[in-house]
Amino acid sequence: MTSPPYCNRYDYTRTYALELAYLGVTETEIRRLRQRQVSCTVEHSSKIHELEVLYESLGQHDRFKHILRVIRSNAALQEINAALTTRWNRGDLNNRGVLQMIDGYFIEMGFVFAEILRTAKPGASIAFVNDNVRYGGEVIPVDLITTSIAEDLGFQADTVHVLVQRKGNSSQQMGKFGRAELRKCITIWRKPA
Ligand SMILES: C[S@@+](CC[C@H](N)C(=O)[O-])C[C@H]1O[C@@H](n2cnc3c(N)ncnc32)[C@H](O)[C@@H]1O
Repeated sequence: MTSPPYCNRYDYTRTYALELAYLGVTETEIRRLRQRQVSCTVEHSSKIHELEVLYESLGQHDRFKHILRVIRSNAALQEINAALTTRWNRGDLNNRGVLQMIDGYFIEMGFVFAEILRTAKPGASIAFVNDNVRYGGEVIPVDLITTSIAEDLGFQADTVHVLVQRKGNSSQQMGKFGRAELRKCITIWRKPA
């Protein structure tokens, strides 16, 4: 059971810059740490090459290609990537980095799901807490996309619990695109027995 970083552009290396400085972490180290994190800010660059090198070094290149192919073929992810590209072309997005961030987030989380599936006991239940997000007016149903990717990888989807959410949309999103309810969810998946 876990709550991973959400795809919400929060950069914990900035949120905790004071604490990191207190611990003696230098600016260069903070920058390196930022790029090593799961993609969830517009500054993150693709980690596909890094992942490929890692899997290759473990003699698992075919597995890398398989996982990436499964994630890339996911219809929900393709749809959201296309919708965001349209929003970017229409001038709705304020930062092009959102496109890479969303794609990178789901790809990296997909690799996490694949490794959890490999290492969990048969029949195990897996719970992820996550928030849906919205960029350029486009609501991104993180709960449903992650569940769909998890299913494609071999999990059985069990339940999506919707939690009471008090957080609203950002004022910029609401002003330009109106209000949309953003779910906070716990998704439960099962590894087949
Ligand atoms: C929502 S909290 C959940 C903490 C813990 N996993 C739990 O389930 O209670 C997300 C955690 O991810 C870490 N984190 C934040 N941004 C991250 C990123 N981009 N990459 C990796 N970890 C990140 C935070 O330090 C925090 O511990």
